[in-house]
Amino acid sequence: MTIAVIGGTGLCDWDGAEIIAEQAIDTPYGAASAALRHVRFAGAEFYFLPRHGDGHRYPPHKINYRANIWALHQVGVDRVIAVNAVGGIADECGTGALVLANQIIDYSYGREHTFYDGADGRLDHIEFGSPYSEPLRELLIAAAAERGEPLVEQGTYACTQGPRLETAAEVQKLKRDGADVVGMTGMPEAALARELGLDYAALCLVVNPAAGLSDEPITMADIQRVIDAGMLSVKQLLAAAISADSRR
Ligand code: HPA
Repeated sequence: MTIAVIGGTGLCDWDGAEIIAEQAIDTPYGAASAALRHVRFAGAEFYFLPRHGDGHRYPPHKINYRANIWALHQVGVDRVIAVNAVGGIADECGTGALVLANQIIDYSYGREHTFYDGADGRLDHIEFGSPYSEPLRELLIAAAAERGEPLVEQGTYACTQGPRLETAAEVQKLKRDGADVVGMTGMPEAALARELGLDYAALCLVVNPAAGLSDEPITMADIQRVIDAGMLSVKQLLAAAISADSRR
């Protein structure tokens, strides 16, 4: 069992899963967001880490991404499926859509974003042209097809700093830049995973139209309704993909 799921907004705990073990992990970079759970759900076994901590206590810019990724690496995880709630920008990324990112643009700043900061004499420049793992993406695409679950198989994720949502003008800029969805937690997580050689994929649930793309203001209540309606499918898709992987 070497797959871990990092849960984002709306996937802070894994209701309905059997918790086989739970371990608090300290790393050279500090503590991970929460204790790492080893869970069993719908026949699949994997590690689960809630990115924002228990009770959703860390905002996107305060998450210790380095500790989280290091902790997974430390227990022997070699593949990470990240779940992200996002705003939709592209027409095909409407509210409720599941999007499997294949590219990312990083607009975040001021986050501890690398293990190669020269502190311990290590320095490297990772290859990051294709930031997501194609085999892991294929595993999820196959599981979605098998389940008849609609999945947007490609999308460019724009990672903004948050915690505020964007202005309408910022979203227009992101759109001109080629972004399909916008979230606040995709980076530096994806790059840190690559630095440690972990395969990484990001499954995104669109929980609102990005700012200015709908006549309605974005409210947390509306977002919560979409999460309540969509997160079970996300969990089932993850479990199906992880089970299929363990049968291979
Ligand atoms: N923007 C940034 N992050 C988000 C959004 C959004 O519209 N929705 C959910 N996470």
